[in-house]
Amino acid sequence: MKTALITGITGQDGSYLSEFLLNKGYDVHGIIRRSSTDYRERIAHLEGKPHFHLHYGDLSDSMGLIQVVSKVRPDEIYNLAAQSHVQVSFDSPEFTANVDATGVLRVLEAVRACGLADKCRIYQASTSELYGKVEEVPQNENTPFHPYSPYAVAKLYGYWIVKEYREAYNMYCCSGILFNHESERRGETFVTRKITLAAARIAQGKQDCLYLGNMSSLRDWGYAKDYVECMWLILQQDKAEDFVIATGEQHSVREFCGKAFKYTGITLRFDGEGENEVAICTAIDKSVNPKLCDELVGKTLVRVSPDFYRPTDVVNLWGDPTKAKAKLGWNPTKTSFEQLIRIMVEHDMKKVAADHAAEQVRTNLAEYLEKGIVK
Ligand code: NAP
Ligand code: GDD
Repeated sequence: MKTALITGITGQDGSYLSEFLLNKGYDVHGIIRRSSTDYRERIAHLEGKPHFHLHYGDLSDSMGLIQVVSKVRPDEIYNLAAQSHVQVSFDSPEFTANVDATGVLRVLEAVRACGLADKCRIYQASTSELYGKVEEVPQNENTPFHPYSPYAVAKLYGYWIVKEYREAYNMYCCSGILFNHESERRGETFVTRKITLAAARIAQGKQDCLYLGNMSSLRDWGYAKDYVECMWLILQQDKAEDFVIATGEQHSVREFCGKAFKYTGITLRFDGEGENEVAICTAIDKSVNPKLCDELVGKTLVRVSPDFYRPTDVVNLWGDPTKAKAKLGWNPTKTSFEQLIRIMVEHDMKKVAADHAAEQVRTNLAEYLEKGIVK
């Protein structure tokens, strides 16, 4: 049985990767941060399984990392932990550098300190943000980097230090340069999930309007569940190498938004430009959703808020997965763009309905308690 250690196990990718590795028969260990609130929702269903173990630690704490690595003695480490929000990195640049740049170094050094440099393979969660202010479209493994946010600059250090340790110490460590990948487990402040949740809320009368930033931004969006397979494949090759992981398709935020609303039964028309752009509901389809309210027609459901603009924004990401297809035998469009949006919208329609039902139960209970109906 192989042993894997995952940093960032509570995140979107960490949760899917845990499921994937458990299915492959791995003993899976994960590093979690201590928190005063419950943030383990994505892995709650795995806790208690015999081959699933959690350890406290933090990428900013090298002593803790050394302790975990020496205890687990992993065959493979997947370093997914990061302050992963690009806009937040402008507000917390030092923290982002500490975790996303120096944190990678700490993981590599922990492996060396534990005498595992010859045995342990390391996957580094690198990113298409490295291409930033892009110098070539589409982007492949040879495209020059031009990082365009504190997050991307920190991740660039991570990329180079991994390459350095591979060459200097002959360690099996490599980076997956992953383009955006989304899912029903995506954090709620990333644009795709923000859109699918808002579309579901608006369709159910729980929200009036969605505010977005740059709707013209272009991304290469894949499905996170498909992408974790690549992380594993990258570590199973004879030679350690870096790979671009992407679908090879590009879409705008506006297009994602229009399609997400469509899956709730709402048709949008986008009008205007820049800060004055809006999306108006032109029709509703009750065959998709019989509960849609007729009054939505004619309403402005999406507006632009400059609050979501970034000091520098990456606007033209488009990956070329030729190498991954050829060497890893990976199918980049196993889940299509349309399927991805449908999965996310269907999930969020159910979530909003369930949240509403739970809220109703709480309201009823409060009322019954007040009236003395229940004691
Ligand atoms: P995510 O959902 O934001 O998860 C990030 C994980 O990192 C969480 O488990 C978080 O723990 C953990 N973490 C943050 N700071 C930490 C610290 N100081 N010490 C230990 N753990 C820490 O991110 P994701 O979407 O799964 O992405 C996984 C990795 O891939 C990240 O490195 C991200 O930068 C990179 N990446 C993501 C994409 C994408 O499109 N999703 C694309 C390219 C690269 P808490 O739960 O405690 O916050
Ligand atoms: N978050 C967000 N919120 N982004 C918005 C909004 C909004 O309201 N409106 C427009 N956008 C635009 C952003 O300006 C950006 O150009 C694009 O939508 C995507 O933003 P995010 O979904 O926040 O993702 P990201 O591309 O910045 O970063 C994600 O992908 C990277 C890989 O390219 C993260 O997962 C990073 O960790 C990852 O490295």
